[in-house]
Amino acid sequence: MCGIIGAIGYPNAADALLQGLRRLEYRGYDSAGIAVSTKTGFDVRRAVGKLNALAEVISTSPLKGNTGIGHTRWATHGGVKIENAHPILAQDRVAVVHNGIIENHRTLRKSLEAKGCKFTSDTDTEVLAHLFVDAMDNTDNLHDATAKVLGQIEGAYAFVIMTTDYPDQLAIARQASPLAVGLTDEAIFVGSDAIAMGDVTQKIIFLKDGDYGTISHDHVHLSDSDGQTVNREVVVVAASPGLVSKEGYHHFMEKEIHEQPDAVLHTLSAMTDSNGGFHLPQFIDFTKLTAMAYLAAGTSFHAGLIGRYWMEQLADLPVVTEIASEFRYRHPSLRQISLALGISQSGESLDTLMALRYMAEKGVNTAALVNVDTSTMARESGLHLITRAGPEIGVASTKSYMAQMTVLLILAVVAGHQRGIIPDQRRQEIEAMLSSLPRLLGESMACSDTIKPMVARLAKAKSCLYLGRGTLYPLALEGALKLKELSYIHAEGYAGGEMKHGPIALIEEGLPVVAILADDEHLGKMISNVVEAKARGADILLVATDSAARQVVEESPELAEMVVTVPDCDPLLAPLLLSLPIQFLAYFTAVHKGTDVDQPRNLAKSVTVE
Ligand code: M6R
Repeated sequence: MCGIIGAIGYPNAADALLQGLRRLEYRGYDSAGIAVSTKTGFDVRRAVGKLNALAEVISTSPLKGNTGIGHTRWATHGGVKIENAHPILAQDRVAVVHNGIIENHRTLRKSLEAKGCKFTSDTDTEVLAHLFVDAMDNTDNLHDATAKVLGQIEGAYAFVIMTTDYPDQLAIARQASPLAVGLTDEAIFVGSDAIAMGDVTQKIIFLKDGDYGTISHDHVHLSDSDGQTVNREVVVVAASPGLVSKEGYHHFMEKEIHEQPDAVLHTLSAMTDSNGGFHLPQFIDFTKLTAMAYLAAGTSFHAGLIGRYWMEQLADLPVVTEIASEFRYRHPSLRQISLALGISQSGESLDTLMALRYMAEKGVNTAALVNVDTSTMARESGLHLITRAGPEIGVASTKSYMAQMTVLLILAVVAGHQRGIIPDQRRQEIEAMLSSLPRLLGESMACSDTIKPMVARLAKAKSCLYLGRGTLYPLALEGALKLKELSYIHAEGYAGGEMKHGPIALIEEGLPVVAILADDEHLGKMISNVVEAKARGADILLVATDSAARQVVEESPELAEMVVTVPDCDPLLAPLLLSLPIQFLAYFTAVHKGTDVDQPRNLAKSVTVE
């Protein structure tokens, strides 16, 4: 959730650390800081707000040194204020950057205070800093001091520690939050992910849970959770792109919406053989599966809901799609589930990771559908499927969601074919249809021109409802999430048929209702649901395929205040194509309101705390 980075032995470390933090800003942007080691102690710069605030501070007061640590924060314990920004110091002997939560920090803090420790922040992190001071007083090397501290803390964390006692080393540890070491000829780096170190190296060691140790400028000393020295493999990762630019778009989100035809094209290419048929990178015997679980959070969860409709409809294979943060805590009955698929853009969302680990512990095979191929989920799952959406920088998921749906549809088709539910001909039809998806998405981009002038009304709304049926119901949930997170307008998504069971009471004069329709088996019933909303005063905004919109207008010419359409398509493709107007609607509303589109308040791109 926070991004951490460290460097030891690198000339002008602060420049490299700041660059690394820019690559990590997706993990949090409440405050940021860098500390470097000096002859007399530490030199620290911190700033509240986005990374540019820190860059500004450093440009007026530069940092010099070849060893340092940096942090970009998403606040958990303690508000967004300078005192809580990392690096957090204790007694000018220890500086800490930390990602995650020390769950027993209250108890530890009390006992440290009882020993006379003075705390200057509200963070759980400061506990770590004081524990290190204490541990260094009671051990004779930094490695043992780290082991001693780890014996006292509980929770999910990754941290980097710089000390004045051992100025030539950094202490590092990982438990459930990601951490990787980057090797260069002259120096060693450590960071929350390989991308953070992408400017300086591609040679990466991914720590495993429970690993801890020390690094110097030319040596990595790691131990596993049992204290045994371990040599983790050095992996050469693909060159990570330089800092991705907006390429003329106003926001990353706008750019990423427009990149969706490419995201689908690349994802399809990686899963298509030379005859144009779908193939999975690793074989899954769907005939042997009794049921699947799709585990995910946020937008990825919505993709999983749509995927469930497809898998059940096309392959007659039962799927439960669950919010990952709830799954293991409800002690689910797993008897029927023979494969659990974690769906995640980042591959790092802790809720999803923990749900997958829970399934693995229970003996269920696990697979991961991720956009970051070096992520923890990809590395931990026996089977992984990669969406080829490319780096997604905007906090709101768009192109990764589109690519997830693409893969989930392919999975359902392959499963349906293997299980004898889909005959060859239907499979080929769907393959051909999907190969035209990038083109259809390209054509659908034109809907943005219709949407732009519509948003002024929506931007004034206090609340908004999204309705859909079938696979367009999860899209209604997704539309509501996008509007909430980007423009801070309260929004709810409902299944059209569920309205009459309560939510219809919310409808009053002028309430915007976004009705999502395709020319599918639900169209007639959806029109009735929308008519019911209109009769109670709602302002209807129709988001529909061309022919669905035509039928609505024929049946009820006065129904919609505003209509936005995408080209006609098979109902299987409707949730993909109709995602575009749904994303544009949220995007332009946020732009109209002047909110921070790429970094909305209180959010982070990757959520690695529970
Ligand atoms: O990286 P993940 O796909 O696991 O992330 C899951 C959610 O945190 C993410 O989809 C979130 O809901 C986005 N902000 C939605 O736009």
